[in-house]
Amino acid sequence: MEVNDYIKKHFAKEDEVLLDVIDSLKENNMPTISVPSDAGKLLYLLVKIANAKKVLEVGALGGYSGIWMGRAIPEDGSLTSLELDEKHVDVAKLNMKKAGLDDKVEYLVGDAMESFTELVSSGETFDFFFIDADKENYVAYVESALLCAEPGALIVADNVLWGGKVTDETNDDEQTEAIRAFNRFVSEDPRLEATILPVGDGVMVSRVIK
Ligand SMILES: C[S@@+](CC[C@H](N)C(=O)[O-])C[C@H]1O[C@@H](n2cnc3c(N)ncnc32)[C@H](O)[C@@H]1O
Repeated sequence: MEVNDYIKKHFAKEDEVLLDVIDSLKENNMPTISVPSDAGKLLYLLVKIANAKKVLEVGALGGYSGIWMGRAIPEDGSLTSLELDEKHVDVAKLNMKKAGLDDKVEYLVGDAMESFTELVSSGETFDFFFIDADKENYVAYVESALLCAEPGALIVADNVLWGGKVTDETNDDEQTEAIRAFNRFVSEDPRLEATILPVGDGVMVSRVIK
């Protein structure tokens, strides 16, 4: 058995609700690019360990990562999820309802950078961020997150190893370069302390120093 499958089997088992999310993606001809269950469990644990109450997600798809995080958010907490595609939001809403988490989640439909601009100007703050949308905007997303982060907030991002392409010096495609730029930004910015966990496609875990 592969090491990742061992971890998933023993520590990140999916229940019916989570498995139904994957089915709903296929039924609606949506890409099956949710985080894997081991990364979902990591998100769940990070939200709990951080005692995060106000979580912001960039990239909802069908609500799979939203369910993992939503289950860790306390009763008086909330998940705000930024998603470009209205159809994805409709599917995510149904799945969050099936998970009994619809009271905790709010979807902001549209380009995440526009939603971020509105959130920043409203003065709303968050103590946990999960970035999992278009790779070209990862640096812009972390810069925006820093503008509405509570001191000590966690900023987590998926796909930061990009299937191993980040270390392949012969690869200079746009998305790989965008991920490299993001990794460089987070590793060098004095407002952040961070590392990459080789879970799933690579999960960046960073903490805001303020
Ligand atoms: C990898 S999927 C998110 C997966 C989800 N986090 C999960 O694990 O269940 C990326 C999502 O980002 C959305 N997206 C892409 N570009 C976006 C943008 N500019 N603003 C907001 N959402 C965007 C896509 O429509 C897609 O639903």
